Amino acid sequence: MPSRLYVLSASTRPTSYGRPLARWIAERAAARPEFEVTTVDLGEVALPFLDEPEYPSTGRYAHPHTRAWSETISPADAFVFVLPMYNGGFTAPLKNAIDSLYAEWRDKPVGLVSYSAGPSGGAPAIEMIRPVLNRVGLRPAEPTLSVPGIEGLVEGGSFRAAPEFTAGTDAVLDAVAELALAGAAVRAGA
Ligand SMILES: Cc1cc2nc3c(=O)[nH]c(=O)nc-3n(C[C@H](O)[C@H](O)[C@H](O)COP(=O)(O)O)c2cc1C
Repeated sequence: MPSRLYVLSASTRPTSYGRPLARWIAERAAARPEFEVTTVDLGEVALPFLDEPEYPSTGRYAHPHTRAWSETISPADAFVFVLPMYNGGFTAPLKNAIDSLYAEWRDKPVGLVSYSAGPSGGAPAIEMIRPVLNRVGLRPAEPTLSVPGIEGLVEGGSFRAAPEFTAGTDAVLDAVAELALAGAAVRAGA
């Protein structure tokens, strides 16, 4: 059975350069037999800053927006986070999206694709998010991919993939598929 892979675009900017990259990754993943792909756009989710009276780790959510976010994420078996770098780190909306839930993330693999305007491709944002992922029990897949110069790679709303990004994305998806398969085997008691 294919894994339910959720490709999450972490920018909330209406003119996000990462959105076309996330769409391209989702299309590439959907072409593979291991995945059934859903896209999640944090700009569309528009999740308010955490305003729950109880800790998310209780799973008791008072607000419809948190319940809706929980229902969006719960069915996922695995993720790819497509995350921009802002001022040397990952973005506040992504931290808030993670913090607002708990059990929904646990023990699920996550592939990491960062991007930035500059030459680092947002690799520091990946290093910054690792402890956060570990804390909620998301399992980062290796390798990750960092895409530099994102502004020059988006044309007419589409991502122009160079061969290194195609290979890099496939390597991320291979690793996520492997972790998802291993997780499914454990859950099935194999
Ligand atoms: C608040 C902010 C901070 C940024 N800081 C950096 C940075 O430190 N290094 C860099 O290379 N690009 C930086 N950029 C440029 C972004 O990486 C680039 O605009 C990217 O497209 C942002 O993702 P988005 O368009 O999907 O929102 C920054 C952009 C914003 C909006």
